[in-house]
Amino acid sequence: MSKLLIKNIKELVQVETEVKTKVAGADMKNLPSIKNAWLAVEDDLIVGFGEMDSLEITDWVGVEIIDSSGQLVFPSFCDSHTHLVFAASREEEFVDRINGLTYEEIAKKGGGILNSAKKLQGTSEEDLFNDAWKRLEEIKQTGTGAVEIKSGYGLSVEGELKMLRVIKKLKAESDLTIKANFLGAHAIPTQYKDNRKEYINLIINEMMPVIESEGLADYVDVFCETNYYTPDETDRVLQAGIAIGLTPKIHVNQFTSIGGIQAGIKNKALSVDHLEVMEEQDIQDLIKSDVMPTLLPSCSFFLGIPYAPARRLIDSGLPVCLATDFNPGSTPSGNMPFVLSLACINYKMTPEEAINASTINAAYAMGLNDTHGSIAVGKKANLFITKEISSVAFMPYSFGSNSIETVILNGKIT
Ligand code: NIG
Ligand code: FE
Repeated sequence: MSKLLIKNIKELVQVETEVKTKVAGADMKNLPSIKNAWLAVEDDLIVGFGEMDSLEITDWVGVEIIDSSGQLVFPSFCDSHTHLVFAASREEEFVDRINGLTYEEIAKKGGGILNSAKKLQGTSEEDLFNDAWKRLEEIKQTGTGAVEIKSGYGLSVEGELKMLRVIKKLKAESDLTIKANFLGAHAIPTQYKDNRKEYINLIINEMMPVIESEGLADYVDVFCETNYYTPDETDRVLQAGIAIGLTPKIHVNQFTSIGGIQAGIKNKALSVDHLEVMEEQDIQDLIKSDVMPTLLPSCSFFLGIPYAPARRLIDSGLPVCLATDFNPGSTPSGNMPFVLSLACINYKMTPEEAINASTINAAYAMGLNDTHGSIAVGKKANLFITKEISSVAFMPYSFGSNSIETVILNGKIT
């Protein structure tokens, strides 16, 4: 058994002494923490924590001790929304946008998701795995301890299954906790433009049975949006996903509010993600549900589209989750601390709200509440130790610089 003790922690952040699954509304401003604290880990689990005064360890044999004077300890971030398996970057579209084209215009001329799908077609499983592996290594260093990864750049039976098999291998080999989301309904492939139904049939009748038999996904996603999938089509794909044991987690309201939120609520989605464009009715419907509203501020930052109305959501009593949306088109970054900075600066979320949104609420949005998202006895020892920093708020304040010194995953220093 391996034992680890972190002592003299200046502040141990997001401690949980009684079970909670998420924090909502005004409660999001409360971030429970202990100053001058210790934390004990055995194997891959947190086994105790408290104030330094209360530290009593009877058996010191074989305990590795880290002195964290002046440093803060956080539970790892959960990044509940990424597309980090992809074949190639798309900086040419970045330049197109600088020259005045919009995301939608670029998509119409064959760029966007279809461009990524074309590139993925000719890329081997091995190359996809190796590139994604490097991205995972990078996000670990900025504090991510659990990550959701979507398919959706295959858009053919072979392509989608290839992506999902890569994600399954990443799951097996990475020390990050990984969830797989099947996003076959990400865009309509060009050859099905005039026969959308046929592509949806392919998703349901050709892809899903293999996904079920090989255990390739946890979640099912649809890009419910004007020019992509309608709410009715979304509903159909989600129901077929549910029938093979997948839980919906979907893209809605990025550019238009067309009923995606209602399709998500109806199908008991774990989360509805994006929410840049929100009608009052969307908010009222979410209030009556258990669906986690998930916001992706680095997508707004990168595309120059409106920021989601985070303040309105929280002030209406809703919980909010933050994620990166790491993908080659709208967010080429998996940096959670930067997401926190953007949330504070552009959403006007407080640092405490941003940390709740990226830890406990993000664990909820990944179905990982029992094991991740807070410092609690029995939860997985996925955490990080900061450099010597002055306070919790310093992390989002010091945007663009990495405040993290040591990353611990499954109880081991990485
Ligand atoms: O979440 N909105 C849909 N999908 C991705 C973008 C994918 C792409 O442009 O490649 C997103 O932003
Ligand atoms: Fe996305």
